[in-house]
Amino acid sequence: MSRQDRMPRGVFRAALLGLTGIALVAFGRPADAQALDFNFYRENIEPMFYRSRGNFQPPDPGNPACVMCHTWQANTPMMLQSLEENDDGSVYWTEAQSRQNFAAVSRLVMPGDPENSRLLRTPLSPQAGGSAAHTGGKFWDSRNDPEYRMLAEWVGAAAPMAAAQAPEVSFEFFQACVHPIFYQVTPGGLACANCHGAEFAQADAQVSWGNVQRLIEPGRPTQSRLLMHPMHPDGGGDYVHNGVRRWRSQNDAEWQMLAGWVNGERTGTMCGL
Ligand code: HEC
Ligand code: HEC
Repeated sequence: MSRQDRMPRGVFRAALLGLTGIALVAFGRPADAQALDFNFYRENIEPMFYRSRGNFQPPDPGNPACVMCHTWQANTPMMLQSLEENDDGSVYWTEAQSRQNFAAVSRLVMPGDPENSRLLRTPLSPQAGGSAAHTGGKFWDSRNDPEYRMLAEWVGAAAPMAAAQAPEVSFEFFQACVHPIFYQVTPGGLACANCHGAEFAQADAQVSWGNVQRLIEPGRPTQSRLLMHPMHPDGGGDYVHNGVRRWRSQNDAEWQMLAGWVNGERTGTMCGL
C-alpha cells in the first residue's frame, strides 16, 4: 500500500468515543496456559511507555516517550490511551485505560517468545538482533538493557503456543474464501483493495498470500492484524484503522470464517469450499 493512498486522519475518531473496557479473548489456548500477566505488565512494563527519553527541545530532538508517538491520535501501531494528569503534573493511566493498553500491547508480542516479539525487536538495535528500522529510533543497544530484560521476563513467563497448536494455515482456503473478500465492497462503499491494491494483489492470490503472512498469527485470530485491524473497537478491534470497519463484532459470520481459516480449518462453509 502506498503512503499516498492514505485517507484523511480522524475519520474514525467519533467511533472512539465511549470506549470502555475491551474484553481480551484468548482463542484456541488451553485453559491452563499461562497468559500474559496484566499486573506485572501494569507495574513494570507500562511505565516504560511514558518514561521521557531525553530532552526533545531543539537543537537536540532527543528521544521522546513512546506514548508521544504511540497514541490512538497518531497513526502508529501500539495505540496507547491518552495519559491522565495529576495536579502536580505527574501522569498515569487508570486501570481501565491500562487494560486497553494491555490489549493493544499484547498483540505485539508472542507469548513465551520474547526474541520474536515485535515489541522487543522494534526498539532494539539491529546489531543486537533487533529489527532493521524503527521510525521512533532505537532505544536498547543490547538484550542486557534493563528495559529489554524486564520485557523479556514478562513475555517469557507466558506459555508459548505448543507446536501442535500452531496450525498450518491453508492456501486453498485463502484462495477460495479469503482473497475474494478483499475485493468485495463494504457497507462504507469501499473494498479493502481500493487502498491495499498492491498488497492484496487481485490478479495473483499467490502474491497476496505472501503479503498477508505477516498480518496473521496461525492459531490466534485475535492476534492477527488482518482480522483485528478492520474490526470495530467495540468488537475488540484496533482503535484506528484509516480504512474501513468491516466487522462489528467477533460474532460476524465472515469474521468467524476468517478465524476458522487462521485456526487451520480447511473448509469454509461460507464460500462452499
Ligand atoms: C518519534 C515517534 C516514536 C517514538 C518515540 C516511538 N515510536 Fe514506535 N513507532 C513509530 C512509528 C511511526 C511506527 C510505525 C512505523 C515503523 O515501524 O517504524 C512505530 C512502530 C512501532 C512498533 C511496531 C513495529 C511493527 O512491527 O509493526 C513497535 C512495537 C513500537 N513502535 C514500539 C515502540 C516503543 C516500545 C517505543 C518506546 C520505547 C517507541 N515505539 C517509541 C514511532 C515512534
Ligand atoms: C480507505 C482506505 C482503506 C481501506 C478501504 C482499507 N484499509 Fe486497511 N489500511 C489503510 C491505511 C491507510 C492503513 C495504514 C494506517 C492504519 O493502520 O490505519 C491500513 C492498515 C491496515 C492493516 C494494518 C497493516 C499493518 O502493517 O499493521 C491491515 C491488516 C488492514 N489495513 C486491513 C484491511 C482490510 C482487511 C480491509 C478491508 C476489510 C482494509 N484494510 C480496508 C487504508 C484502508
